[in-house]
Amino acid sequence: MKFIKVKTYEELSHKAALLIAAQMTVKPNSVLGLATGSTPVGTYKELIKMNQAGDIDFSTVTSVNLDEYVGLDGTNDQSYRYFMNDNLFDHVNIRKDHTFVPNGCAEDLKAEGEAYDAMIKELGGIDLQLLGIGLDGHIGFNEPDEFFTGATHEVVLDESTIEANARFFEKKEDVPTTAITMGMMSIMQAKKVLLVANGAKKKEIVEKSFFGPITPKVPASILQLHPDVTVIYAEE
Ligand code: GLP
Repeated sequence: MKFIKVKTYEELSHKAALLIAAQMTVKPNSVLGLATGSTPVGTYKELIKMNQAGDIDFSTVTSVNLDEYVGLDGTNDQSYRYFMNDNLFDHVNIRKDHTFVPNGCAEDLKAEGEAYDAMIKELGGIDLQLLGIGLDGHIGFNEPDEFFTGATHEVVLDESTIEANARFFEKKEDVPTTAITMGMMSIMQAKKVLLVANGAKKKEIVEKSFFGPITPKVPASILQLHPDVTVIYAEE
């Protein structure tokens, strides 16, 4: 594991964007696994700048996102599809039909999960998976549990996750209580993993995840078993 500690969020965003840009340069038809949350927003801003300056090209890239709230469709401004359009896809030359987010409105979420995993497999897997980390150690929406789940699946969100994500909604009651998330299989099969964590509030969970025991109670700790992980942590 490469653990890069930086001082500021700006440095974190810049370094993360450079690593993603490098991936796109060495493999123009990369499959990028992308994440939501507030942390990657700065990384996406940097990628937009690089794309608009002509330094990187998204036209042959495919993206697969980690997760989506159940019941929110892409027109809902709290959905992760909306977030991705707004924070990245609408501002770069990616083909929208090459961007994938699990469908949280699918009637049969189990079938949606199976189809999502099959699609990732068909794409040849993920070249680089970008991850944030929840305060409880969740990656995607893989919450602390008794076991790790491999497949893309429906999850009941932890109370702490609902509370943490309430800041994006008008009121806490509006936060969906369930979501569909990529499981550990597609994440762990990604060729490279890049996890970004920002600020003192994430210090403890980052330590637990990368320097503590590997346990499904701390979902991100599974990444210790991945052969190519880079963690960028900004202290401030
Ligand atoms: C959500 C997402 C995660 C993300 C987490 C942390 O729960 N499902 O993928 O890592 O938020 O968000 P933030 O970066 O805002 O702390």
